[in-house]
Amino acid sequence: MVKSLEGKTIVLGVTGGIAAFKSVEVVSKLRKLGAEVHVIMTKNATEFVAPLSFTTLAGYPTVVDTFEREDTWDVAHVSLAKKADLFVVAPATANIISKMRTGLADDMLSTTLLATKAPVLIAPAMNTGMLTHPATQENLKALEERGVLIVGPEGGFLACGDEGQGRMSEPEQIVERICQILQTKQDLLGKRVLVTAGGTREYIDPVRFIGNESSGKMGFALAEAAMKRGATVTLIKGSTTAAEPVVSEKVDVVSTMDLKDAMLARAPQQDIIIQAAAPADFRMEHPSEQKIKKQAGEALELRLVENPDIARLVGEQKKDGQILVGFAAETEHVNEYAREKLKKKNLDMIVANNVTQEGAGFHVDTNIATLITDTSFTELPLMTKKELAHVILDQIVELMKTTE
Ligand code: PMT
Repeated sequence: MVKSLEGKTIVLGVTGGIAAFKSVEVVSKLRKLGAEVHVIMTKNATEFVAPLSFTTLAGYPTVVDTFEREDTWDVAHVSLAKKADLFVVAPATANIISKMRTGLADDMLSTTLLATKAPVLIAPAMNTGMLTHPATQENLKALEERGVLIVGPEGGFLACGDEGQGRMSEPEQIVERICQILQTKQDLLGKRVLVTAGGTREYIDPVRFIGNESSGKMGFALAEAAMKRGATVTLIKGSTTAAEPVVSEKVDVVSTMDLKDAMLARAPQQDIIIQAAAPADFRMEHPSEQKIKKQAGEALELRLVENPDIARLVGEQKKDGQILVGFAAETEHVNEYAREKLKKKNLDMIVANNVTQEGAGFHVDTNIATLITDTSFTELPLMTKKELAHVILDQIVELMKTTE
């Protein structure tokens, strides 16, 4: 994506945490991309970074929480709230997150946040104990359900000396997310999307496995596109070789049974589930605990048992209004087999791809797909997996309208 934020106005709220110093770099990067940036600091934030640092980089006076200057305050909070194409809070402390949830407006930042109609992105930063406290977790979940976008937090060393979750995302990641939000339509804002990607591995012994060629590119493209369009994305990934996208939650799995567990635990909370992974249909009945030694001249027989059909299990538990999308990787009778899977797995749409076709299927950056629903059949030309991901999401958005 060509990154330019020319013509975009970003209001950045800075709250009181040590990560506030990283927000100075966020402003610098946004300005380099051409954005107009206005900064609002809480009083506590000014204990960590001087407002002048932000003022110098943004080119606009930093608004600091003040009830003293009441004459300008009222106008400023409304005008900034209206001006914003995107409202970012970085770092977002447990305190501001709690205030945002309840709609508390007792300073300049919280008041402006309450008044804005712009999309809001927060970058939480706090001590692990505060982050994992049920109150903070509930607040984050409630905000997410309300459509507030969240980047991070990450794991690592924290200013308090602890090691764990709670570090604010790096400025590059925050700016990347801002670009994603401002450069793409936000038609999945507030939606929870689960995407599966990659292949599963079934171990024969500790060093050998049955696997497949999936690189993860198709699933990753879908996860990335859904993030760009405002969704909260859970990516469950098996074995992959492609570069991973930044998503809201990432879950690593090895075998099809792992994938099943991860899926069944998360499926009920999702609005949309897209299954681009290539799970192995069979696993060893009794995987060997030790490396199998070859016996000269003797063949080796492996006994495989069938793995569960995860898409079918998810389809059996489909919730009202949920959209389920599967893929069909076929080598012959592509549309016929895909239609069978659409029905059998209780899917709303299946993306059929002939994996023997040049430019389609495993590994490559492109795909040739047919989108099949109960009532429609759309043959698509060769396109990149990134482009296809958006076409699939467009179709999903249309399907969602029919269930509302
Ligand atoms: O990762 P890439 O290199 O980019 O390649 C992309 C892809 C070819 C893997 C992708 O486009 C694709 O077709 N994914 C589906 C692969 C597959 O397993 O297809 P299937 O026809 O065997 O399965 C049909 C559907 O059921 C799929 O949504 C699959 O995730 C699901 N399934 C399959 C087997 C199983 N035991 N449980 C399942 O849920």
